[in-house]
Order: sequence, then C-alpha cells, then structure tokens
Amino acid sequence: MKDKLIQTAKSALDYAYVPYSTFKVGAALVTKSGSIYSGCNIENASYPLTCCAERTAIFKAVSEGEKDLVEMAVIADSEGPVSPCGACRQVMTEFFSPDAIIYLTNLTGDLKVITVKELLPYSFSLHEK
Ligand code: THU
Repeated sequence: MKDKLIQTAKSALDYAYVPYSTFKVGAALVTKSGSIYSGCNIENASYPLTCCAERTAIFKAVSEGEKDLVEMAVIADSEGPVSPCGACRQVMTEFFSPDAIIYLTNLTGDLKVITVKELLPYSFSLHEK
C-alpha cells in the first residue's frame, strides 16, 4: 500500500492550487474499506483560509462516509520528508488510530515512516481510540 499511496499523493500534488506560496503538497489515504482518497493544498487570497493537502484528503473521505482511516502518504517538493502542520496532526488524530502509519516523503524519495501518535503525542481527544 505504501507505494500506491505515495504514487497517488504525487499525482494529487499536480492539482495543488498554490499561487501564493508556490509550495505544492499532495496527500493520499486508504480507508478501512479499501477506498483511496487524495488531496492537494488549496490556497486563498485570504491566506488563513488555505486548506492543507492532508485535510483536503481527510475531509473528502469523511464527507463520503469514510471515518475509519488506515494509512496516509504526504509528499511535497521539500528538502527532506514533508512535515505536516499542527492543525493537520490534530485532524489526523481524529480519524486515524494512534498507531496508524503516515508516510512522509518528497520528490527525491526521502522517506520518513511515522505514526499518528508520534506526530502528535498527548493529543486532545474527546473519544476513546
Ligand atoms: N501545507 C500542506 O498542504 N501540508 C503540509 O503538511 C504543510 C503545509 C501547505 C499549506 C500552504 O498551502 C503551503 O503548504 C505553504 O505553507
């Protein structure tokens, strides 16, 4: 699944709408039922309204009724493996299990494999995971 998710995230990166930062990010996740959802970052002239690639993919899945998310890949043209922002880490915590694997990579193939709880230890949650 790792290679499929990375490849799908890379395709999603091409759709990034980034006129302000020019920093393209792509994400792809697989759900418990086996469906794959991808997302890119979508910026706005009102900068804080930007949605990161990770949250685009997660919200696409959840809005289609898929709340059990299993693994995700994130890719950007970054120096090392791309590092998700704090907001995305919190949103990941809501829908992935703490031990879910997240593949962080870049266009040159650097890879960091990390869990959701490693990305956001001691996270805020209102439900048992
Ligand atoms: N961005 C993401 O989409 N995901 C990340 O993991 C890091 C940051 C986006 C937000 C913004 O469009 C651009 O990257 C620069 O911050």
